Amino acid sequence: MEALNGKVAYITGGSKGIGLGVAKELVKQGMHVAVSGRGASDLENAVAELGADKAMGIISDVTRLEDEQSAVKKILKRWGQIDVVVANAGVGHFAPIDTLKTEAWHQMINTNLNGVYHTLMASMDALKASKGYYITIASLAGTNFFAQGAGYNATKFGVVGFTQAAMLDLRPYGIKVSTIMPGSVSTHFNNHSPSPKDAWKIQPEDIGHLVRDLLQMHPRTLPSKIEVRPTRPDLK
Ligand SMILES: NC(=O)c1ccc[n+]([C@@H]2O[C@H](COP(=O)([O-])OP(=O)(O)OC[C@H]3O[C@@H](n4cnc5c(N)ncnc54)[C@H](OP(=O)(O)O)[C@@H]3O)[C@@H](O)[C@H]2O)c1
Repeated sequence: MEALNGKVAYITGGSKGIGLGVAKELVKQGMHVAVSGRGASDLENAVAELGADKAMGIISDVTRLEDEQSAVKKILKRWGQIDVVVANAGVGHFAPIDTLKTEAWHQMINTNLNGVYHTLMASMDALKASKGYYITIASLAGTNFFAQGAGYNATKFGVVGFTQAAMLDLRPYGIKVSTIMPGSVSTHFNNHSPSPKDAWKIQPEDIGHLVRDLLQMHPRTLPSKIEVRPTRPDLK
């Protein structure tokens, strides 16, 4: 995987935030990149930024296995292979467990946890064929629990466990599997609007550089679980 030029990546939730930051870096490396999301206009803007010759936008809701299967078909039809899958799409709802709405719980489980499963199931055969790389974007919330995070923590602890176990299952096929666990990243997550006040946070392009470095690592070596955090905390 060290030479990235001409390889093909699929990034779920690649229309903004971390996913778009990763997509931009992979396009810079000469890769073809498909980005997905539920919103058409964000996808159109993303493809315009990435360049229509190198990128495609796919409307797909990761909570639906059939959407992910159809997304993979579209990518294979256009580019014939999938070398890298970044299961990044995610949502967060934060409230004490006694007031967390049931719909919010289900949306997080269906997107953050069932979503990464759907994406892997849909792309498994393509990844076996390419001896590719499957990366999940978990969170430090996948190892550090906090008040008002019960639902989000449950999904991200789940993603970390899922990814690590899948890594053991897929290594024999020559597929690399890693989970990235970021701390605060400046994105639109949880209805946030990125601003200059976010300068202390990790920026989406930093996660892009991290993914590039993972893809370029020697085939014999696999960093399977990566914690990444802002160097300095928000000092206010
Ligand atoms: N920001 C942070 O501090 C931080 C830290 C650690 C981990 N993370 C994780 O990083 C990942 C990306 O989040 P972000 O911070 O980049 O947030 P973001 O800026 O809100 O972007 C989220 C992306 O996911 C897509 N998405 C949401 N639900 C989806 C669904 N059901 N199907 C397909 N796409 C969906 C969104 O597009 P649509 O809304 O159009 O579908 C968007 O493209 C998430 O898994 C999040 O948990 C974020």
